Amino acid sequence: MYKSLLITISLLLAIGCGEEKKAASGVSVASGTSLWKTSCASCHGADAKGLPELSPNLIGSEFIAKSSDEELVEYITIGRKAEDPNSVMNLEMPPKGGNPMLKENDMLSIVAYIRSLQ
Ligand code: HEC
Repeated sequence: MYKSLLITISLLLAIGCGEEKKAASGVSVASGTSLWKTSCASCHGADAKGLPELSPNLIGSEFIAKSSDEELVEYITIGRKAEDPNSVMNLEMPPKGGNPMLKENDMLSIVAYIRSLQ
């Protein structure tokens, strides 16, 4: 009796945790697409091909190809100063593209969108 109760409780916990994880993840290319338009496209262009003298082309970017999703989220969170030795244009990439409202999941969605364009 106690044993089956325990099993039921742990099953419920497992199901509960699984759902929580799913709800918290909320990462999708679709939401990345709209977040890209509002937070990133002004500099990088709707197609992420960059704008002359404003931002680099992200399509075919070696930096993106070799970075994990987590590394890219970290990069977007911090941005890159113009004087950074890794700077590709000697221009500043503002933290979160200048949108402090972006959460980690939002940035993961944006990364999924960028990867879908490569
Ligand atoms: C104000 C303009 C601006 C906005 C807005 C902006 N960026 Fe950038 N971004 C830049 C510039 C400029 C660079 C290049 C920095 C340098 O010289 O290395 C850059 C570089 C990058 C890179 C690195 C590219 C590489 O090959 O090294 C990524 C990735 C990136 N941006 C993603 C984003 C994302 C995602 C957003 C939206 C959340 C965003 N950017 C918003 C200007 C912007």
